[in-house]
Amino acid sequence: MKNLFDISGKTAIVTGGSSGIGAMIAQGFVENGVKTYICARKPGPLMAKAEELSKLGECVAIPADLSTVEGIEKVVAEVSAKEDHIDILINNAGANWAEPIDTFPEAAWDKVMNINIKSIFFMTQKCLPLLRKNATAEDPARVINTASVHGFENPGLPTYAYSASKSGVIHLTKHLATDLASSHINVNGIAPGYFVSKMTAGIASDKAFEQEVISRIPRGRPGDMEDMAGTAIYLVSRASAWLDGHTIVLDGGQIA
Ligand SMILES: NC(=O)c1ccc[n+]([C@@H]2O[C@H](COP(=O)([O-])OP(=O)(O)OC[C@H]3O[C@@H](n4cnc5c(N)ncnc54)[C@H](OP(=O)(O)O)[C@@H]3O)[C@@H](O)[C@H]2O)c1
Repeated sequence: MKNLFDISGKTAIVTGGSSGIGAMIAQGFVENGVKTYICARKPGPLMAKAEELSKLGECVAIPADLSTVEGIEKVVAEVSAKEDHIDILINNAGANWAEPIDTFPEAAWDKVMNINIKSIFFMTQKCLPLLRKNATAEDPARVINTASVHGFENPGLPTYAYSASKSGVIHLTKHLATDLASSHINVNGIAPGYFVSKMTAGIASDKAFEQEVISRIPRGRPGDMEDMAGTAIYLVSRASAWLDGHTIVLDGGQIA
């Protein structure tokens, strides 16, 4: 029982691993002996993060736009050239857009939907051969999708595509889990509350607004690296092998 959370020796892909929540998960994996591929569009910050994490373990950067199937296929081809399997896929890359309902543009709707939900389906689809390869009933492969508390409730912000996409992530997680269980691939989700990141920089930079956001969190603080890495490590370890199709709300008690 002492090795329930041991994930060393596994191989993972973390999308959106250059920043914020993806970087927190990637660091947790690398520090715990997981060879971790990180992907994002901007090569500069991605390479810098891979270099930083490579001082702690194995981390490889693959730049790509995952909102297109072409970008997804590029990542899968590059990983397949180096690995005969992966154990873990973290579908985390995401974007948001806030605009009043009367002017919310079609291009913003498509941008958010393409990265927040379409990419989760096609990234999972294209990674299936790599995920199936070493997956067994005792040690299933894992797919973790990043949802959001805003997939459960109205965020109180004009982020229509975002909240709809995140509800979709929670449902797609259930659908994929039940369909992929026979391939020994578990699919679960994490629905974060407030974590400081590039996406939430607008909250962190406005101290009064941030205090208001934190006042709605019973634990009284934003989530941090250990909170996120701890939940991700649980979800890819032996400890959670019988958890399938669920989204863990990681929000300091906010939506409870
Ligand atoms: N922070 C929070 O409080 C919070 C709460 C709930 C849910 N989430 C979710 O957590 C996930 C990570 O967000 P974050 O807060 O960590 O934000 P972040 O710091 O902005 O990170 C987003 C990551 O996704 C990458 N990305 C965005 N569009 C991409 C694309 N088209 N192709 C490939 N990579 C792309 C970004 O890199 P590039 O820009 O270089 O592509 C970056 O690495 C998102 O799904 C978000 O919805 C965050």
